Amino acid sequence: MPERTQDAQQLVAVYPGSFDPVTNGHLDLIERASRLVGHLIVSILRNERKQPFFSVPERMEMVREAIGSYPNVEVDTFEGLLVDHVSQRGGSLIIRGIRAISDYEYEWQMALMNRRLRPHIETMFLMAGEAHSFISSQLVREVLRLGGDVSDLVPSVVERHLKLRIGKGN
Ligand code: PNS
Repeated sequence: MPERTQDAQQLVAVYPGSFDPVTNGHLDLIERASRLVGHLIVSILRNERKQPFFSVPERMEMVREAIGSYPNVEVDTFEGLLVDHVSQRGGSLIIRGIRAISDYEYEWQMALMNRRLRPHIETMFLMAGEAHSFISSQLVREVLRLGGDVSDLVPSVVERHLKLRIGKGN
């Protein structure tokens, strides 16, 4: 018989991403994942090669302010292999969100590669809430840049930062 996996409430899970910036879709996932596991680490990728819109400290600050005070959620950053970070943090689960079928192939490749690298680390996919299925950080940045309203797509802290960055702060 296979060894029993840990009780979910004892699991340490990592929800990785660029979060450039964090959206209401991400927040929905953070809230739902935080109810499933004992400890959730929202881990922001520090990628020197990618030119991000917001710096890592800015993204951290926005995620922290947006999530408020969930007792079992923390925000961290990582570079290098995700599975190394998960292991270093004592985690055994990676959380990712799936919006549309178009997300599937990329997520499938990442999950299998991560499993090949560390077979004991599982990836768990949560379906994005239907109200959030079309939201992406990239579209949010574009809509705001072109003068559209993003107030119901991102937390207010992000809207504030975006407006300041794009020069529409008031
Ligand atoms: O929000 P994103 O940009 O879709 O998140 C992608 C992320 C950060 C999860 C992915 O790029 C990642 O895990 N990068 C770390 C590098 C790594 O571990 N690569 C090998 C596994 S595919």
